[in-house]
Amino acid sequence: MQLFVSCAGYNKLSMPRIVIADKEFHLYLSSEKIQEQVEVIANQMNSELKTHNVIFIGVLNGAFMFAADLLKRIHLDAQISFMKVSSYYGTSSGMHVKRLIGLNEDLKGKTVVILEDIVDTGKTIEDILFQIKGFRPSEIRIATLLLKAESFISNVKIDYVGFKIPNRFVVGYGLDYNGYGRNLRNIYMLEEVDG
Ligand code: IMP
Repeated sequence: MQLFVSCAGYNKLSMPRIVIADKEFHLYLSSEKIQEQVEVIANQMNSELKTHNVIFIGVLNGAFMFAADLLKRIHLDAQISFMKVSSYYGTSSGMHVKRLIGLNEDLKGKTVVILEDIVDTGKTIEDILFQIKGFRPSEIRIATLLLKAESFISNVKIDYVGFKIPNRFVVGYGLDYNGYGRNLRNIYMLEEVDG
């Protein structure tokens, strides 16, 4: 697997680039910018959720970095958990619903704050929301670091958004391309192929 970082001078835009497998990406959001925005979200949560009985639920794998950085800045007396969304699609009801895996906590009467790395069409978060509602929490809030606003076609309310981004593939800070790139501290955007 090829994964290298090159710096200014390498390309016409003088922007740091990386190559992961067969794809080239350019720097889109620096670690500093991400941290600033994570701080903004944490401050908002700290003031809005003071009186709530909160459980944060990070959606793995992608949200692990966002969750870790955000939760270090949360001063609430809150529970923290993680879950996965299966790539398996149940078809028994004719509906394609992704299943939640590893959620064993009692959510009844609690304020659930779901932590996502990226919301694209909104289908995944709709499935998560539908199933979390079944655990009868008193409230559900959704936080996502990235929202692809142009491709978002859901009615679900996203309460906390770090960055609205164009409908382009991004990698880094938890987000992967074929399983690689999650450990990068910056977020990189896929190069548009010329011609
Ligand atoms: P949605 O169901 O269309 O909102 O898609 C959400 C899921 O698609 C995310 O949880 C990611 O796993 C994946 N995804 C969407 N866009 C990207 C991207 O640009 N990079 C990496 N994963 C993405």
